[in-house]
Amino acid sequence: MDAAYLLDWANLLVRWLHLITGIAWIGTSFYFIGLDNQLDPPKDGNPRVAGEQWSVHGGGFYHKQKYLLAPERLPEKLHWFKWEAYWTWISGFTLFVLIYWGQASTYLVDPAVLDMPAWVAVLVSAAMLAGGWVAYDLVCRSKLGENEALLGVIGAAALAVVAFAACHVFGGRGAFLQVGAMTGTIMVANVAMVIIPGQRKMVAAMQKGEAPDPKYGRWGKQRSVHNTYLTLPVLFIMISPHYPMTWQSRWNWAVLLAIGLSGALVRQYFVSRQKGKNPVWLPAGAAAVVAFLVWAGAPDRATGSAAEAPPFAEVQTIVASRCVACHAARPTMDGFAAPPKGVMLETPQQIRRWAAGLRQQVQTEAMPPGNLTDITPEERAKLLAWVAAGAPPD
Ligand code: HEC
Repeated sequence: MDAAYLLDWANLLVRWLHLITGIAWIGTSFYFIGLDNQLDPPKDGNPRVAGEQWSVHGGGFYHKQKYLLAPERLPEKLHWFKWEAYWTWISGFTLFVLIYWGQASTYLVDPAVLDMPAWVAVLVSAAMLAGGWVAYDLVCRSKLGENEALLGVIGAAALAVVAFAACHVFGGRGAFLQVGAMTGTIMVANVAMVIIPGQRKMVAAMQKGEAPDPKYGRWGKQRSVHNTYLTLPVLFIMISPHYPMTWQSRWNWAVLLAIGLSGALVRQYFVSRQKGKNPVWLPAGAAAVVAFLVWAGAPDRATGSAAEAPPFAEVQTIVASRCVACHAARPTMDGFAAPPKGVMLETPQQIRRWAAGLRQQVQTEAMPPGNLTDITPEERAKLLAWVAAGAPPD
């Protein structure tokens, strides 16, 4: 068993963990947002109860009450929600290190964007991860942090700057994941550094019989609202590696910004619905943003049709020299134990079978990754012309 094979397994198992913990975290978060927005005024007398909800689930009835400040006495057992978030970050960061740092020359560096040694890319990536949180946290704690609307505008501007910078330093796919990892780090740090410590201080004050300082509740609420705006864009970014048309386009940084915007609109819509309103312009706005992306990102059709479809023998020669080092039953490229995604391009049958995937990957220039095998624009045009002609076998 070689290292590359074991790494594939590590990748799969950590990804599985990341999904499970991410679902647990986001599920809890969605649940509590919904609960908060759907509380009714309490029916019977406890003045400390700010709202309540009855619900039915899994064959039982639940009666939840929200205490804005605190109950008279702390219950013996209090459930905290934090390990879902921490494990999502631990597993996500591990994955990021395994793939984007461990194979930085494939996934992070793209010489066509900016040529640099892998270790420099890793350093820049790490600095951006840490710097993103520090800058965000400072702004939230400053005077600016008191004005939510202003903070929203600053947030959008910061996303534009970070997306632009990442897309001009790293290859598209790495840039997207870099921004996703930065955002995810901010979300988890919000839990670990602000929300949970604040809750600890509130509980400690109550145990001493003092009234907890309401500022901790306010800070915690602010960060948890921010997290709800960041959730949907981050989820989009995490599935984007499968869709090179998002991160390979020339305007990839704008795509990133637009996706962030539409995710925020969708989030706003769900919260409004939960509060009994139905502002349809919000999802319509999100759909318009996505429609614009689809239009703006459409590949230049000319590339495929300009060239004459070459004879199949020529297609096979190009694929053999530009793709087969990785896409073979036994790849010869360092670091590949098996053909990536099971895609083998050695025989004529295999090449024809993968024609659609080949078109997608070659047109968006996602393959070869970082153009490691130096495919030329003419060769790309020939491959695309061949697919456009119906991938003829001769
Ligand atoms: C340096 C190694 C390497 C070279 C060279 C290479 N690929 Fe890939 N290919 C990969 C990797 C890695 C993946 C998996 C990407 C991922 O993780 O999503 C992949 C995935 C693919 C996929 C599947 C995409 C999907 O997610 O369904 C296709 C199709 C593909 N490559 C076609 C090509 C073609 C065509 C060429 C030649 C023009 C090529 N590749 C050259 C490494 C390579």
